[in-house]
Amino acid sequence: MMKRTLAVIAAAASLALGSITMASTTIKSDPAVKSLYERLGGKPAITAVVNEFVGNVAGDSRINGFFKKIASDPKALNAFKGKLVDQICQASGGPCKYKGRDMKSAHRGMGISDSDFNALIEDLVKALDKFNVGATEKDELLGALGGMKGDIIGQ
Ligand code: HEM
Repeated sequence: MMKRTLAVIAAAASLALGSITMASTTIKSDPAVKSLYERLGGKPAITAVVNEFVGNVAGDSRINGFFKKIASDPKALNAFKGKLVDQICQASGGPCKYKGRDMKSAHRGMGISDSDFNALIEDLVKALDKFNVGATEKDELLGALGGMKGDIIGQ
């Protein structure tokens, strides 16, 4: 009796594992299922969007006060842009590794409000629109970044 139960469990487990393996194989080998990173156009497209976005923020009097210090140091500004590229690349399923601080530590003590956050997102949307990023891709990216809001504002 015990033996039979074990055999049934083993068969069920191997069936389940079999289908998980098959499912992941199917997703990986299906060329129609592309990551957001690929659909955005990879690192060159993300870099172009980040450059435009940071330019928009620098010209946005609602929030550019936050970036005064970093904008005055070209080396620091470049490093900052690189971190944004890596972060978006990683968050969209690309091969990069973001090595900056977590969002809570990076924005601690800045007193960023909800409307500051929305202004920055507006500047990003302008950049995405300038490069004709599709509505689906835009929604997916904004969704991923929107998830960071709670760590960024009000602290
Ligand atoms: C989804 C929205 C946001 C993302 C993805 C984001 C991302 C980042 C990243 C990756 C860094 C660099 C962290 C590091 O150096 O380790 C950073 C720093 C910073 N962020 Fe944000 N951020 C967001 C929203 C905001 C907002 C709304 C503001 C202000 C309006 C802001 C102001 C800053 C400032 C001033 C720095 C520090 C720059 C410095 O090192 O001096 N961020 N952010």
